[in-house]
Amino acid sequence: MIDFGCILSTFTPDQEELGKVKRLSDDLIREISKYCQGHNIKAEPILVGSSSRGTSLKGADIDIFIRFHRSYEIREMERLGLQIGHAVLRNGIEKYAEHPYVSSYEFGQKVDIVPCFIINDASEKLTSVDRTPLHNEYLKKHLSDAQKKEVILLKLFLRRQGIYGSELKTNGFSGYVTELLIVNFGSFLSTLNHLSTLKGNLVIGDPNSVKRFESPVIIIDPTDPIRNAGAAVSLTSLSIFKLSSKAFIKNPSEDYFGMGPIRTPRKNVDRGTKFFLIKFRRPDVVDDIIFPQVQKMISTITRASENLGFRIINWEQFVGEVGDNVEVLLELEYDQLPAMKVHRGPPVDIENALSFIEKHKGEEIFRGPYVKDDRVYAELKNGNTEFLPSLKNILEKADLGRHINKIKGEFIIERYEGKPPESEVTNIFLSRKNPSP
Ligand code: CTP
Ligand code: MG
Repeated sequence: MIDFGCILSTFTPDQEELGKVKRLSDDLIREISKYCQGHNIKAEPILVGSSSRGTSLKGADIDIFIRFHRSYEIREMERLGLQIGHAVLRNGIEKYAEHPYVSSYEFGQKVDIVPCFIINDASEKLTSVDRTPLHNEYLKKHLSDAQKKEVILLKLFLRRQGIYGSELKTNGFSGYVTELLIVNFGSFLSTLNHLSTLKGNLVIGDPNSVKRFESPVIIIDPTDPIRNAGAAVSLTSLSIFKLSSKAFIKNPSEDYFGMGPIRTPRKNVDRGTKFFLIKFRRPDVVDDIIFPQVQKMISTITRASENLGFRIINWEQFVGEVGDNVEVLLELEYDQLPAMKVHRGPPVDIENALSFIEKHKGEEIFRGPYVKDDRVYAELKNGNTEFLPSLKNILEKADLGRHINKIKGEFIIERYEGKPPESEVTNIFLSRKNPSP
């Protein structure tokens, strides 16, 4: 028997934390109201997010939104939002989502102060954060007190699997999506029951709204029929959720709940493959910018390498905090190609099939051009027989995104025989295991 009560008390904020969050958010709301009155700003603060709904895990952030009257221009609202944020959060730093906001740690508690417009219905929204206060109203009506505990269990379960959070770093299930799952399926266990037998996409919502979207998870936002609240969830995250649901139902255990994913690296032994490590200092940009850029870099390398005849069978990434490194690890079956490559030409049927022969006349040819089946072929000298120089070449030429392009010159690229080197990325590489535990 799983002691859900014990799990909840271990991983949800205790009285002391709840008290601190309450005091802090009350103080901030009061200060913001006072500031707005004193400066003749037509806006009002409101506490949103999990801390306002009783669905937060230990250490959750405090999300305070400032709702501006719609007579403000967007730029003016953003400017005033930052001004107020800095006035009440003395160590606040500016962050960027759809628009800038101020974020800080107050007595160890993360606080975000985000400006938005007041709306009564999502169709009036000017920016996507405007609907966030509507989420609160919806959940207040549709999520019972008992179900809040179910939300927390589901968040803990997803977090353990490494798929909690909609940031581009995780591509998982956001807090709000977790709440919508409980509203829809009723409880933690019935959500897992559904997922454990689900085939294909996870789809919740009115069919007329659903058909606008194409993604592994489609959960229509009940406050806004033209938004898919589950848009951030990747196919891999959905699959991990399905498989871990099967595993939990088969063999329920308390080990499925916890604050973080379990990372137990396997032993680093010789795999008979080749490894390449690309290392550079992380540019000073937020996660939601650097993660997609590293992703893009990896897919560029993979595609270009395969065009040259090298097969990248695995890759892994580690993105440290600002000031730390980014590491990309590539595993190849082989990193040396033969001197000759078979170059496939056009079908003989096409109008200018002869031009292939013309073109390869002067080159260093091992064999051919010759005809086989319906096509012409030529066996040519392979320009890049080794992966390392090819990789350097690919990186030099490729567009790796604005921030990474700037520091290309500082890349450290190393080759390893058989097993990857001791490094952060290797730990992640060797820890990969789903579902967990
Ligand atoms: N929100 C959203 N879509 C996102 C991120 C946030 O609609 N991709 C809205 C939700 O209403 C959410 C609120 O902004 O509740 C605050 O965001 P966040 O702090 O990320 O989520 P929480 O629900 O507070 O969950 P957590 O406990 O993880 O903080
Ligand atoms: Mg939050």
